Amino acid sequence: MDNIFKAIKISEHVYWVGAIDWSIRDFHGYETGRGTTYNAFLIIGDKNILVDTVKAPFKDELLSRISSVIEPEKIDYIISQHAEMDHSGCLTDIIETVKPEKVFTSKMGTKVLKEHFDFDFDLTPVANGETVELGNIKLTFYETRLLHWPESMITYIHNDKVLFAQDGFGLHLATFERFSDEVEESVLYYEAAKYYANILLPYSKLILKLLDTLNRLNLEIDIIATDHGPLWIGKDISKIVTLYEKWAKQESTDKAVVLYDTMWGSTELMARAIGEGLAAGGAKVKLMHSRRDHRSNVITEILNAGILIVGGPTINNMMFPAIQDAMSYIKGLKPQNLIGFTFGSYGWSGESPKQLRGILEDFGVKIVRDELRVKNVPKPENLQECFEAGKAVAKMLKIK
Ligand code: FEO
Repeated sequence: MDNIFKAIKISEHVYWVGAIDWSIRDFHGYETGRGTTYNAFLIIGDKNILVDTVKAPFKDELLSRISSVIEPEKIDYIISQHAEMDHSGCLTDIIETVKPEKVFTSKMGTKVLKEHFDFDFDLTPVANGETVELGNIKLTFYETRLLHWPESMITYIHNDKVLFAQDGFGLHLATFERFSDEVEESVLYYEAAKYYANILLPYSKLILKLLDTLNRLNLEIDIIATDHGPLWIGKDISKIVTLYEKWAKQESTDKAVVLYDTMWGSTELMARAIGEGLAAGGAKVKLMHSRRDHRSNVITEILNAGILIVGGPTINNMMFPAIQDAMSYIKGLKPQNLIGFTFGSYGWSGESPKQLRGILEDFGVKIVRDELRVKNVPKPENLQECFEAGKAVAKMLKIK
């Protein structure tokens, strides 16, 4: 049988040789409803260079795609840009197969890779801004610490004006379409936003610095070759860079997210009344249920919101477990520039809204009113108070 996994040529010297993971639905807690790709790239020149590998179970797919261009043993060098296992999980096996002359990685990468894998191969550290010429191929490496891990780096190939951006500008989307302009725009940009919110949001200040650096370097970029999803080309390059700037700044908007859970429907009634009030006050409103809306979708909605209101009932003196799950996840991602408050119904002790308020305060949400609490089932006057609270908060954003 012929090799069914083919490489795809993306520029004069570069082939995509990655893997498509159609069935992954949980990427370390992030719901990847559309699957993903692990992109790796093969540079063919006087020297042959592999940029990144793939998640371990996809090693044969990677090798097959490489084999559709050259025998893997003909790879001279490997560049490992990021040690996380979706890109380095089969690195040791690939090194064993290919027996490269050198494996380039960032200085910190040499340490982090060895902390992950047991291989006795001398890695070659490269410095931030270092340029190497491998035969006719000219590459420059840039450290991108904490984007997405401390050892991460990106690589620019001068010959083809391709920026290998590892996790940067990624999106989880399993597809045969390799370029951004081939993918339905609403899917492309929703998944890019979701990826940013779930992976890069806590590092937004570093993203702004990186964008500034790229701007100063004034690199000509024809392709942003991310390690996940389609590769960015044409007008999509400036569009995604502009969006990254916007997401990283997290400027407040007139959108409100009301995240809640409910035991017997009382907290839900409160959430709905708050939502009606927010809308009446001019906000764009999204109500989300912590057991029906996945936490990774909740943070995606928060990415471009200005208001976050969280409610949940009290169970055994604690906030509801599903709300705790979502809030732990959201707190770690540190969304900024939000105002809000907390609410919930209760039977006798009613600690939940106060506990939720503590979490919101921990990641910097400006609390604009006391907790709204209702004992047992809300009466019309309680719901009116919820409505007014929502309306008042919407007005605080000075919505026109
Ligand atoms: Fe795609 Fe941070 O790994």
